[in-house]
Amino acid sequence: MALTPPSSRSASRPTDPRAWPGACSGSGRSPPTAPSAYATTVENSVYVDRDQRGRGVGRLLLEDLVRRATEHGFHAIIARIVGENEASIALHRSCGFELVGVEREVGRKHRKWLDVVELQLLL
Ligand SMILES: CC(C)(COP(=O)(O)OP(=O)(O)OC[C@H]1O[C@@H](n2cnc3c(N)ncnc32)[C@H](O)[C@@H]1OP(=O)(O)O)[C@@H](O)C(=O)NCCC(=O)NCCS
Repeated sequence: MALTPPSSRSASRPTDPRAWPGACSGSGRSPPTAPSAYATTVENSVYVDRDQRGRGVGRLLLEDLVRRATEHGFHAIIARIVGENEASIALHRSCGFELVGVEREVGRKHRKWLDVVELQLLL
């Protein structure tokens, strides 16, 4: 299905992630070292092409991931986001995720330490 991207935030919002091929991606995966005890927990990440941001696509993707995780019987979703990524933190909070932890100075970029915040949604 083709959908013309709305030109601004106030324009009509997309309703189906499949209508945005190449513009966005969302994924959920179990932690790579997860033994069966953690099989009901999944990590998520959401990426929207720079040109398509601010139009509701990220929210649509995250809501779709939450719906699918629920349908598949997961109990918890975890998002690990670099601390200065205000857009992603705000997006997750607005979808019900809560701050559960901060990993201090676990990353380094451009000679600067990066914190990673952990947000969680219980389904
Ligand atoms: C984070 C990201 C996915 C948001 O996607 P998006 O399509 O631009 O987001 P939406 O338009 O659906 O906005 C949803 C909510 O996110 C928040 N948000 C989005 N952009 C924001 C910004 N620049 N500043 C603050 N909050 C922002 C708002 O709460 C917004 O709700 P509102 O429309 O009611 O204000 C996108 O910016 C992105 O791909 N960033 C780079 C990749 C990344 O950092 N991924 C996160 C790893 S988990």
